[in-house]
Amino acid sequence: MAQIKFFDTTLRDGEQSPGVNLNQLEKIEIAKQLERLGIDVMEAGFPASSKGDFEAVRQIARTIKNTSVTGLARTTKEDIDIAWDALKDAAEPRIHIFLATSPIHMTHKLKKTPDDVIQTSVEMVSYAKQKFTHVEWSAEDASRSDLDFLVKIIEKVIDAGATVINLPDTVGYTTPEEYGRMFRYVREHVPNIDKVALSAHCHDDLGMAVANSIAAIENGATQIEGTINGIGERAGNASLEEIAVALKIRNDYYQHSTNLVLNEIKRTSDLISKFTGMMVPGNKAVVGRNAFAHESGIHQDGVLKEASTYEIITPEMVGIKSNNLVLGKHSGRHAFVDKVEQLGFEFPEEKVKEAFKTFKELTDRKKEVTDDDLFTILTDLQSDS
Ligand code: KIV
Ligand code: ZN
Repeated sequence: MAQIKFFDTTLRDGEQSPGVNLNQLEKIEIAKQLERLGIDVMEAGFPASSKGDFEAVRQIARTIKNTSVTGLARTTKEDIDIAWDALKDAAEPRIHIFLATSPIHMTHKLKKTPDDVIQTSVEMVSYAKQKFTHVEWSAEDASRSDLDFLVKIIEKVIDAGATVINLPDTVGYTTPEEYGRMFRYVREHVPNIDKVALSAHCHDDLGMAVANSIAAIENGATQIEGTINGIGERAGNASLEEIAVALKIRNDYYQHSTNLVLNEIKRTSDLISKFTGMMVPGNKAVVGRNAFAHESGIHQDGVLKEASTYEIITPEMVGIKSNNLVLGKHSGRHAFVDKVEQLGFEFPEEKVKEAFKTFKELTDRKKEVTDDDLFTILTDLQSDS
């Protein structure tokens, strides 16, 4: 079974979320948790971007020994030298260099010809290779680049020493079918592609980052980049926890393994949410508050009889203690009786009926009936008898 490597960029692309600014201690705590989660490569920051980022990358490189640590650099000698200073003490130092390859970026942003972009990329990959064993090169805005230009430049940067080729959907523009086709094309047309890892990096502007990442896997990607909770620039990056769980749950279909320790997912998500101040939406797949909550009576009845009726992921798999049967206006008697028993009350059938009626009346006034509300209803009833 082919293994997919997970590259986490929560500390770099994730920190580019507007309003997020992590201090060094928070970054180190997150890095340690990413290591426990079993991430293969973590991008600890962009060392040339600020003194603070440089220092954080250096500390993480010195602290983390079971996950490979990398840092971002532009295609300049200065950025590469700074990255080396920050990363040289890492167990397996890596660098991540990027240059845009789409006509729109080359013309308007870089003001470089395609030949200039090839030359700069090749020179800077060779330069980085004098220091780093592992060099990742990213074709920024790959999904809006010409496929034959990509094939040409990728072949040359691999010859120059790149060990990972990353094809980002920088602006979250592509679709699963189209992104998958790009990976297949590169696999089929770049003669030396089997020498390197092929990586996907998706943004979520059209809400397709996870689907696009999985399409890349189906078409030959061997590494997936993203962040925990999907945080990142604009609408964010692909959520690594969603991709990992999808590969696990639908292993019958995808047949790929990962090194992730899935039951560390919830702890990682909570820590990152706390330090970044970015709340996880209640309905977010895998880690949202409601991902394992059931309110409707029909669903609650099914789950009480056999959880797999309405749960395709067990809460324990991702590090959550148990599912949650929420008592609200859609809830039925089964979940209510179950809750009464959990709270330690024993009533004759008549009293249960009465309690259920009072509970239902309350649900018309209150969206969610808490254990405390129920406790009040039940103790009132107990003192009546
Ligand atoms: O989205 C992107 O293109 C990036 C690059 C720096 C790899 O984050
Ligand atoms: Zn990105």
